[in-house]
Amino acid sequence: MQCENLVSISDLRLEDIDELFELTAKMKKSYKSGEADHCLAGKTLGMIFEKSSMRTRVSFEVAMTQMGGHAIYLTKHDINLGERESIKDVAKVLSRYVDCITIRTYAHETVVELANSASVPVINALSDYTHPCQALTDLYTIKEKKGSLDNVKLVYVGDGNNVARSLAFLCAKLNVSYKAASPENYELSSEFLEEVRKIAESNKTCIEQLRDPKKAVEDADVIYTDTWVSMGKEKEAVTRRNHFKGFQVNDELMSYAKKDALVMHCLPAHRGEEITDDVIDGQHSIVYDQAENRLHVQKALLKLLICK
Ligand code: CP
Ligand code: NVA
Repeated sequence: MQCENLVSISDLRLEDIDELFELTAKMKKSYKSGEADHCLAGKTLGMIFEKSSMRTRVSFEVAMTQMGGHAIYLTKHDINLGERESIKDVAKVLSRYVDCITIRTYAHETVVELANSASVPVINALSDYTHPCQALTDLYTIKEKKGSLDNVKLVYVGDGNNVARSLAFLCAKLNVSYKAASPENYELSSEFLEEVRKIAESNKTCIEQLRDPKKAVEDADVIYTDTWVSMGKEKEAVTRRNHFKGFQVNDELMSYAKKDALVMHCLPAHRGEEITDDVIDGQHSIVYDQAENRLHVQKALLKLLICK
């Protein structure tokens, strides 16, 4: 892997993604057959979390444990990034102790500044702008389920948020057709779509923003949704729930999709809001395999970034 950090999907070349997916498959297989791989023995991951997390925190920490290393969880209460100490100083000092840093925060610029000042790899564990570890896991999971990403059509139903953006970026890079269906004022911005299309243009990948979820899912192989109220948007919860009515992934919406369409969700899910119990627990859903793969993809990512 040529890049030093994973701040955004745009840090990755196609070759890096191929390498990551190949290593993930290999490491997952050997882990499942009981082989130990202590390639990160003696290495430490510093994990800065300014927002809640279950999957990201646990999967990164377990990844380090399984590879013989150690992880330190640092909350806002512990380091108070940018207030107790500048982002620059946190990056410079942590780099003297740990071998890699993950950060989950609000402003994407915080991740960028941390990565620019750190001398160890920095991984974006979610910012308001993107969630690259999630997108990498999602596309890896689709490839695992379908055998290949050739001709796959992904439809994202809901908020044009961090998860929608990193998925769009990665679909564009991997030549996977991507359509988002969102209510007015919650779409991916036209500037963003333009930026993504620039990546996609060379390989003619479809990147589209639509309004009607029923029309959008018609030829989808994968239907993806996420919360209507991302972390940091809690004050808008009531308004958002009203605006997103009609964008729920439920049995009715699934009746417009192909019989073998897969359903994905990055989780945490708000059952009864963006997705119903019937769908998330139903035959189309692959959400728990998707969640498990966070561990395997991030193990490969840590290995590639730390063991250069
Ligand atoms: N999907 C995801 O990132 O989950 P957490 O917020 O629980 O980490
Ligand atoms: N869009 C959600 C993703 C959570 C994993 C959020 O930012 O809260």
